[in-house]
Amino acid sequence: MNFKKNILITGSQGMIGKNIINDLLNKGHKVIGIDINDKANTDFDYYQCNLISTEDTVQVLKKIFSKYKKLDCLIHLAGIDYKLEKSNKCLDDFLNISKPSIVMESINSNISMVYNIIYSLMPYFLKQEKSKIILAGSLYGSISPNPNLYLDKNGEKFFQKPIEYSISKSVFPILAKYLCAHYGHKGLVVNNVEPHAIIDEPKEDFLKNFEKISPMKRTCKVNEIVDFISYLSLSECDYLNGQTIKIDGGWSSL
Ligand SMILES: NC(=O)c1ccc[n+]([C@@H]2O[C@H](COP(=O)([O-])OP(=O)(O)OC[C@H]3O[C@@H](n4cnc5c(N)ncnc54)[C@H](O)[C@@H]3O)[C@@H](O)[C@H]2O)c1
Repeated sequence: MNFKKNILITGSQGMIGKNIINDLLNKGHKVIGIDINDKANTDFDYYQCNLISTEDTVQVLKKIFSKYKKLDCLIHLAGIDYKLEKSNKCLDDFLNISKPSIVMESINSNISMVYNIIYSLMPYFLKQEKSKIILAGSLYGSISPNPNLYLDKNGEKFFQKPIEYSISKSVFPILAKYLCAHYGHKGLVVNNVEPHAIIDEPKEDFLKNFEKISPMKRTCKVNEIVDFISYLSLSECDYLNGQTIKIDGGWSSL
């Protein structure tokens, strides 16, 4: 039987976050959102917090647990999608676009967010009989972005997915494995989802290239990722644990 659950969602104001929240609210579950953005119009319990700060994250979790006592699931969506556009950078100039000072700061931000939320939650989760964590990694944490996606009709590169994004997402699969291996016996279920290409307003050149390369000849629809993450958060199949699941329309099968 599917009882109503308390589900914590980080990155609740983002594109995927908003859609998952609608879905879970429609199914009658309690949603608690965390994001760095100012409070927007929300019909769920919302906490503004910068997850890069350990102290702020610990404090916000303290508040949430003193109110709810128990959370069934964390869906961690908060992240920074670093972008390098041709207009402000020379994309072939690796030494310039990938300076250690910039790259390390960016890596640190994304990894701090996921680590801080896990670190702050674990004391509560390990006291519960059962708890669940779903991480939103990225396909680009497991395979490289394909540079051919970002060539215009003259063969010129118009964009590059920066190396710091891939590096920061590459820790997600091992986080899921490590936490499962060490805390699975305490009722913790942790999985990592690797989505690919859910894009609001894609460039025409990008779409044309995407159609040529992708086995399904199309990008991912937001409801496809929402449906899966929502299913995972409510599923009673706890034996699925420590896994990284790619939602990529077969992109990584080639
Ligand atoms: N959209 C895609 O195609 C795609 C593909 C692969 C992976 N992902 C991953 O899925 C997750 C959600 O994607 P999305 O498209 O909804 O992204 P999004 O950028 O729309 O949402 C991310 C949210 O994280 C929040 N955030 C950023 N920094 C924060 C901080 N310091 N503290 C608290 N909140 C912070 C932002 O305010 C934003 O609301 C991201 O982690 C992203 O990397 C997305």
